[in-house]
Amino acid sequence: MIQMKHLPIGILGSGKGSNCRAILERIRSGDLSAEPRLVVSDVLDAPILDLAREFGVANAYLPPGRFRTRLEPEIEEQLVQMLQDAGVELVVLAGFMRVLHEPMLKGFPRRIINIHPSLLPKFPGLEAWKQALAAGETVTGCTVHYVDEKIDHGQILGQREVAILPNDTPESLHARIQIVERELYPAIIAELCEKYVKDAGNFETAG
Ligand code: GRF
Repeated sequence: MIQMKHLPIGILGSGKGSNCRAILERIRSGDLSAEPRLVVSDVLDAPILDLAREFGVANAYLPPGRFRTRLEPEIEEQLVQMLQDAGVELVVLAGFMRVLHEPMLKGFPRRIINIHPSLLPKFPGLEAWKQALAAGETVTGCTVHYVDEKIDHGQILGQREVAILPNDTPESLHARIQIVERELYPAIIAELCEKYVKDAGNFETAG
């Protein structure tokens, strides 16, 4: 008989962690058959670490080193080790403000996902909601995608649209996108969990 398995996940974030909260709430309520093994932040006082403590999830601050937008290679190796030691099978980026490079991409091939506040491939990069407003779009949204070596790039797993209203400010638009993000991200993780369970824990074949 095939054992029901929970997908062991690790969550990386640098900020407030509203997506992380949505994921942990869904796990707690039993909607999401994932198991949060570890939350890691590159920011010592990031609320996402308090959130992990609130939910009783192991958590760690990872001092990022001397670069601003990436981790030093040895530190990225440490991150791989921490996640592997925790038995993590899927890495979930939830507002992690550093670009991942070879150590993580090799350590977790096709096993790192990200959420981005635009309808990729439109508006990669920072403050994507402001970019959409400035471009005069009438619709934007959010995207969950596998992470590859390019920024906000990689196979798209799901998207949700958000209408841009005539009187939208960057703040009002961002707030509405974030509401939708908190539905989309757990829904996509749930799909990956289903594949993981169906393949009896062999996540390598989940495509
Ligand atoms: C989200 O809006 C996501 O699109 C982007 O970073 C933000 C993180 O927000 N990648 P939070 O920390 O989950 O509240």
